[in-house]
Amino acid sequence: MTAPNSDGLPRPFLKWAGGKRQLLPGLLQAVHSAQSSGRYFEPFLGGGALFFALAQRGLLSRGASLADVNPNLMDAYLGVREDVDAVVQHLRRHEQVHDEAHFYAVRQGIPDTLAGRAARVIYLNRTGFNGLYRENSKGEFNVPFGRYRNPLICDEPNLRAAAAELARVDLSVGGFDASLSAVAAGDLVYLDPPYPPTSPTASFTAYAKGGFGEADQRALAACCANLQRVGARVILSNAMLPQTLELYPGFYIYRLLADRFVNSRGDRRGKVAEALVTSFPLVPADGTGTLEAGLMLVRDPNGRAQEVDLERWLQAHGYADVAATIGAIKSEWKAAGKSTRRNWWAVLAGSRTGRPRRVAGREFPILRAAQERQGLPVTANAETRNAVEIAARRDAAAP
Ligand SMILES: C[S@@+](CC[C@H](N)C(=O)[O-])C[C@H]1O[C@@H](n2cnc3c(N)ncnc32)[C@H](O)[C@@H]1O
Repeated sequence: MTAPNSDGLPRPFLKWAGGKRQLLPGLLQAVHSAQSSGRYFEPFLGGGALFFALAQRGLLSRGASLADVNPNLMDAYLGVREDVDAVVQHLRRHEQVHDEAHFYAVRQGIPDTLAGRAARVIYLNRTGFNGLYRENSKGEFNVPFGRYRNPLICDEPNLRAAAAELARVDLSVGGFDASLSAVAAGDLVYLDPPYPPTSPTASFTAYAKGGFGEADQRALAACCANLQRVGARVILSNAMLPQTLELYPGFYIYRLLADRFVNSRGDRRGKVAEALVTSFPLVPADGTGTLEAGLMLVRDPNGRAQEVDLERWLQAHGYADVAATIGAIKSEWKAAGKSTRRNWWAVLAGSRTGRPRRVAGREFPILRAAQERQGLPVTANAETRNAVEIAARRDAAAP
């Protein structure tokens, strides 16, 4: 896979709920596997983590089309593209007079100019509580003041790099289907809709309030089937929920582990298994035969659960010790002339009530991935050890 350029620019200039930074290794592997020969489409743009990761790697030379239903968000991209000088000027002014009163004054009013509106969104995003941009049902920004000691309000080099990249990109405001009518064979489409809640008891209707309900999920799945028919390469991230995934027969479904905010409180983080739904199989990037850590094929296009090579999976996901224990037990059985076989995924999923299983005198840890694979509820004592999680922890601990 292509490495990012040395200055790491452009990068997202907005922090967005549901942003995909933690999932980038898996997403980049999906892009690499797509071998797209066409344009890039991202109609649920948000902070655009994947768009910027591709831009940094020079992978958008055939053009891109970006869209989002949120007009304030799209004003930020449009403003940066159309008049980055004016956006920088506005941000410098916000920087000079930044305090709580100024924050609330800016929150109150919408500027007349595009550059002013773009700078407003960026300023509020950089200085609001938890660095988020959140709106109430009337589309009004409603995040309180953030109390950061030294927020970076105007990241001029990045804004200029983003403006240069966006100059070659189509930008539009609207529902996801509008911008996708232009997709042709060989184009790459990345879809990242708002997720339904992940608790097993929550229903689609519970999150319809958030603006993307069951009907939207169904319309999106129909749109994906259409894109697949057209010959586009489709990548969709979504929650790992049966009611979501059953909408994608004919697609590959991978499990990807992410460490992400579950709500606006920074202390309430959750490890969420996300699904990567693709119209093509993912291929290893480095010829080693293993997918990016955190990725595991769970269903093929015919809806069959996939046999994953257990030992290889354990090795790739930080469980070499468990693989060694299984290997030792098998050797003992062989030496004793026994033909005992075990469903090791079931062993590693523990009991239905979350009790670890013992085999040949050894107790095995309970793995979250194994529980999901076996269709069991994920219990609080389930373990996840993988590079995605370890990298996320390292990032979080970095000064
Ligand atoms: C999960 S976020 C995308 C995050 C993004 N991938 C990132 O890296 O920051 C989902 C986005 O979809 C947008 N959205 C919600 N409903 C939509 C719709 N019907 N059509 C297009 N965009 C929509 C929201 O405004 C939000 O920005």
